[in-house]
Amino acid sequence: MVSFLIAYGTDEGQTATVAEYIETVLIGRGHDVTTRDVTETSDALVDDADAVLVGSPVINRHHLPEVVAFVERNRETLATRPTAFFQLSFASAIPTDWARDGAQEWVDGLVERTGWQPDRVALFAGAVKYTRYGAFTRLFFKLFSARSSRSPPTSPRSSNGVSLPKRHRPTTVPPRCKSGSR
Ligand SMILES: Cc1cc2nc3c(=O)[nH]c(=O)nc-3n(C[C@H](O)[C@H](O)[C@H](O)COP(=O)(O)O)c2cc1C
Repeated sequence: MVSFLIAYGTDEGQTATVAEYIETVLIGRGHDVTTRDVTETSDALVDDADAVLVGSPVINRHHLPEVVAFVERNRETLATRPTAFFQLSFASAIPTDWARDGAQEWVDGLVERTGWQPDRVALFAGAVKYTRYGAFTRLFFKLFSARSSRSPPTSPRSSNGVSLPKRHRPTTVPPRCKSGSR
């Protein structure tokens, strides 16, 4: 049994939902899991965990500052155990190279800024809660959607054989620059 800490930041709740889903899967595999918002995660919890997962949405092209601060504060401890980072963004819902590259660049920026190199990175499509947004945010998503809808349609199959649009599939990305790991 491994003791996991899942520490996440969230603006509108979707990253918390993903964190809880990961928790359910890990518990189902017999592990011990603590899941917390980073603002409620003490550094002692990081010390106590065998492995740490950190999650953040991208909001206005940045990770949440409290997640970045959490990583910076715990960088040395994170370097001593297996870690993963999961990111939610609208970009990961768009099946184009420029959107995929953009989503990866946010992760690269976090690695560069904090010096933390997670062992695994997962890029998930975020939720668009359109009816809850104000006029400016709605306009932003309208323009983004208009651009992405010009992309060719894709219909990959999920593992249970159901045909899924690509935007609903997570993209798992191996670590990029941890020395000696690949
Ligand atoms: C105000 C706002 C700004 C956003 N900015 C971006 C962005 O710059 N790039 C992007 O790919 N997604 C962006 N998103 C999409 C979010 O990453 C997505 O909705 C995510 O699921 C939010 O997670 P949360 O519910 O945990 O806060 C934005 C969403 C909102 C509401």
